[in-house]
Amino acid sequence: MEMKVVKLSANENCYGCSSLALDAILSKYKDVHLYPDVNPITLKEKLSEKFGVRTDNIIVGAGSVRIIDGLIQTLVGEGEEVLTFENSFIAYGQFSEFHKRKCRFAPLSDFRCVPENLLPFINDNTRLIFIANPNNPTGTIISHSELEWFLSKISEKIIVVIDEAYAEYVTDASFPNSFELQKKYSNLVVLRSFSKIYGLAGLRIGYGIMEEKIAAMMNEKQIPFSVNYLSPATAIAALSDVDFINRSVVSNSQQREYLFDELLKLGYNAIFSHANFIYLWFDNDVEKEKFYSKLFQEGIVICDMKVFGQAKSLRITIGVSEINRKIISFLKEN
Ligand SMILES: Cc1ncc(COP(=O)(O)O)c(C=O)c1O
Repeated sequence: MEMKVVKLSANENCYGCSSLALDAILSKYKDVHLYPDVNPITLKEKLSEKFGVRTDNIIVGAGSVRIIDGLIQTLVGEGEEVLTFENSFIAYGQFSEFHKRKCRFAPLSDFRCVPENLLPFINDNTRLIFIANPNNPTGTIISHSELEWFLSKISEKIIVVIDEAYAEYVTDASFPNSFELQKKYSNLVVLRSFSKIYGLAGLRIGYGIMEEKIAAMMNEKQIPFSVNYLSPATAIAALSDVDFINRSVVSNSQQREYLFDELLKLGYNAIFSHANFIYLWFDNDVEKEKFYSKLFQEGIVICDMKVFGQAKSLRITIGVSEINRKIISFLKEN
């Protein structure tokens, strides 16, 4: 019998997506011979209502990575620089390299993207700063007051992008209300994704909320029709299913607590995560390989951070209860 592979390597929603989102796809799929709207205005209107911003402040892209790429391409001129953290989302450095822009990396402190650590790396050429909150891969967060403090310290000419791809999973009250901060700091850009809690990774859709001027510049550079025909309508349906989101948050929190506690009890080095994954680090490569292979042999594929240049760490997406229990029992057995 073929072994069923469980993929816990890309932080997708293990509960799938809302049935309303699937219904939206079914109601539209026969029309895929049509081009999509160049400007997905209905989705923008929904987001505008949800966050109390104007539709002119919203960019919709083929995944938030497309918006990350667009921000670098649009805003960072020749000789200007990008700044982010080491051990954070790989796309910031990757896209800087694609566009031949220098990207500097500030260190984390205790696996956290402490904004203060960015200050020594800021110079006259710094144009764009990316902060993943929660951070991928460590799952740590920065607070509202930390972000506000940082924004108050830096020149408003520097654009700060707070990448909140996993924001909906966070239950900690100190998490920033970035839309509130945008009222005071027009250099703050907020990115969100439909790939994580909304469960639409395969449809490629994300959005960014930013000052009108920046959004207009980004729009000019958008590749027409890059957001496909099915995505905006499906995203609207996914947004409307508050029950599905709430259930995903609650189940993820419960499973995260279970997995985290059990991993600690087994003596592994793990850090508490605010997202839907857990970061683990090992004293050496051999220990890490052992952990990875144990799960791999059972058909559970997790993320070896080696691909992101971190030889001694792993990241596990939090799965459904049955799988998490299996993981712990496999680790206990071997
Ligand atoms: C921090 C962070 N930002 C953005 C993304 C990309 O999301 P999308 O699928 O919307 O391009 C990811 C995906 O893993 C992520 O971890």
